[in-house]
Amino acid sequence: MTRPFYVTTAIYYANAAPHIGHAYEVIGADVIARFQKLIGKNVFFLTGTDEHGIKVEKTAAKHNMTPKDYVDHISHAFQETWQYLNIDYSRFIRTTDQDHYDVVSRLWNILYDQGDIYKATYTGLYCAGCETFTAPRDLTPDGLCPHHLTKPDPVEEENYFFRLSKYKQQIQDHIQSHPEFILPEFRRNEVLNQLEELEDISVSRSRRSVSWGIPVPNDPEQVIYVWIDALSNYLTGIGWSTDEAQFEQYWPADVHVIGKDILRFHALYWPAMLFAAKLPLPKSILVHGFITVAETKISKSIGNVIAPQDLVQRFELDTVDPVRYYMMASTGFGQDGSYTDEEFKNRINADLANNLGNLLNRTLNMVNKYFNGEVPKADQDAISLLSQETLNHIRELYTQYQFNDAIQQIMDLVDQSNKYINDAEPWALFKEEKLQELANVLYTVLDALRQVAILISPITPTISQRIWEQLGCQNEIQKADFRWIFGLPLPAGQRISLGTPILPRLESEIVGAGKKK
Ligand code: ME8
Ligand code: MG
Repeated sequence: MTRPFYVTTAIYYANAAPHIGHAYEVIGADVIARFQKLIGKNVFFLTGTDEHGIKVEKTAAKHNMTPKDYVDHISHAFQETWQYLNIDYSRFIRTTDQDHYDVVSRLWNILYDQGDIYKATYTGLYCAGCETFTAPRDLTPDGLCPHHLTKPDPVEEENYFFRLSKYKQQIQDHIQSHPEFILPEFRRNEVLNQLEELEDISVSRSRRSVSWGIPVPNDPEQVIYVWIDALSNYLTGIGWSTDEAQFEQYWPADVHVIGKDILRFHALYWPAMLFAAKLPLPKSILVHGFITVAETKISKSIGNVIAPQDLVQRFELDTVDPVRYYMMASTGFGQDGSYTDEEFKNRINADLANNLGNLLNRTLNMVNKYFNGEVPKADQDAISLLSQETLNHIRELYTQYQFNDAIQQIMDLVDQSNKYINDAEPWALFKEEKLQELANVLYTVLDALRQVAILISPITPTISQRIWEQLGCQNEIQKADFRWIFGLPLPAGQRISLGTPILPRLESEIVGAGKKK
C-alpha cells in the first residue's frame, strides 16, 4: 500500500506569458513530486492557470481579444513551458474548466446556506493588480498600492460577504498548534499579525464592474470573487465534484507551494473557507521568495522578462536541466534570489560540467582502459564514499524542502569522489599491477556515481538518465527507488558506455548578459 502525497503550485494569472519567477515555483513543486515518488509515494501534482477576474478581462481587452480566446492563448503558453521544463504534473487545471465551475458553485452554496455568506453594501477601494479590496492603511503615503504603485479604484456596490472574522480564533489556534502549517517558520508571525486585523471580506463583484467570472448561484447580477474561485482549484483538481474516491485519497493536500506575495490568501482566507466547508486543512503552506533579474523586479514595463526557454537558447543547452539545477541550487526555498547570466554560467560550469561531468568522464575512461569497459569486481576491502548518516541527512533535507542544502550534500559527495581518485592514483596502481586495489577504487567511484545519479534525479532527471545509461544501467532512472541507493549496487561485469559529456562547458559570451535590455 503506497501512501498518497498531494502537492500543488499556485495557479498562474492568464494575463502574461511565464517567466523564470514562475518557473522557479513550478520546478520546486516538481522536485517535491519527483522526490516523493522516489521514496515510494503515490503522488498527485496539480498546477494550472487562474483565468477569471478584472485583471485578465482588462488585459484581453487591451489585446482586442475576447477573454476566452486570450486565456486559451496564455494557458497554452504555460502548458508548453511546463513541458519544456519537464514538469511531471498529474493535472493542469484551468479555472475555466467545467468541473471547476461546479466545485465553486457547490462550495458557495454550502457557505451561503449555512449563513457564512451574506449581502451588504461595500464602500472602499479595489486594486485590480492584486485582485483584492484594500484599506487606506495598506497604501503608500501617496495612496498607491505598494505592490503595483497604481491608484486603487473606488468601489461602492452591494456585494456578498464571507464571515471571515467568525473563523479568526480557529485559524489562530491551528497556526499555533501546527508549527509545520506555515513554512519556513519565519513567515508565521507575519500571518499572525495580519490575523489581528481580520474582517469579513467581500466575495462577489457586480457584473457591471467584472463580467469575466463564475456567476453567483441564483444571482446572475453578481460574479464570484476571483480569489474564492482560484483557491477552490485545489479541491477541483483531485475531483471534489467528480471523483469522490480520488478526493478522499488525496485530501488534505500535503503542501501548497506559493510565493510570499499570496501568503495571506492561503494562510487566512483558505483555512476559513475550509473550516466553513468542514474540510481538513492542508498540512503545509510552503512559501518561497521572489526571483529578480540582477536584483531588479521582473517586469514587462522594465523589459527584463526572461522566459525559461531564453536561457536554453542563450547557452545553447541540449537539456533544460541546468535551468532546473540553477534555480534550485542558487536560491533556497524561502529566500529571494537574483538571476544573472554570469552566475548561471559559473554555477553550471563549476558544478555540472566540471565537478560532476569530469568525475564521470575520467572514471569511465579508466574503466575502458583498465577493465575493457566492464564494471570491475570489488572485494570486501572496497569502501563506500556515501555513509548511511549522510544519506539520511539528504533525505531529511529533501523532505523538509531544503533543496539547495540537499544539492550541496550531493555535490560534496562528488567532490569527495574526485578527491578519492586523486589520492588513490588509479594510474599508479595500474602501473604497479595492483589490480584488485585498482578494481576496488574504480568500483567505489562508479557506485558513488550511481548513487549521485539517483539522488540528484528529482532536480536533473535528464542528466541523471545520461549518467545512468553511461554506467550501463537498464530501465529508466525515473523508475528508480530510493532503497536502491544501498540496496542495489552496480553489478560487476556490467558494460559501461562512454558517451558524449553529460554537459559540455557553457562558453557563450552573451551580449548584455544579466543587464536590463
Ligand atoms: O497570484 N519569483 O498568480 P500570479 C518567484 N493567480 N515567484 C513568482 C514571481 C517571481 N518573480 N512572480 C510570480 C496569482 N511568482 C494568483 C494565485 S493561487 C490559488 C492563485 C509566483 O500569476 C507568485 O508568488 O501573480 C505565485 O505563487 C505564482 O507565481 C503565481 O502568481
Ligand atoms: Mg502576482
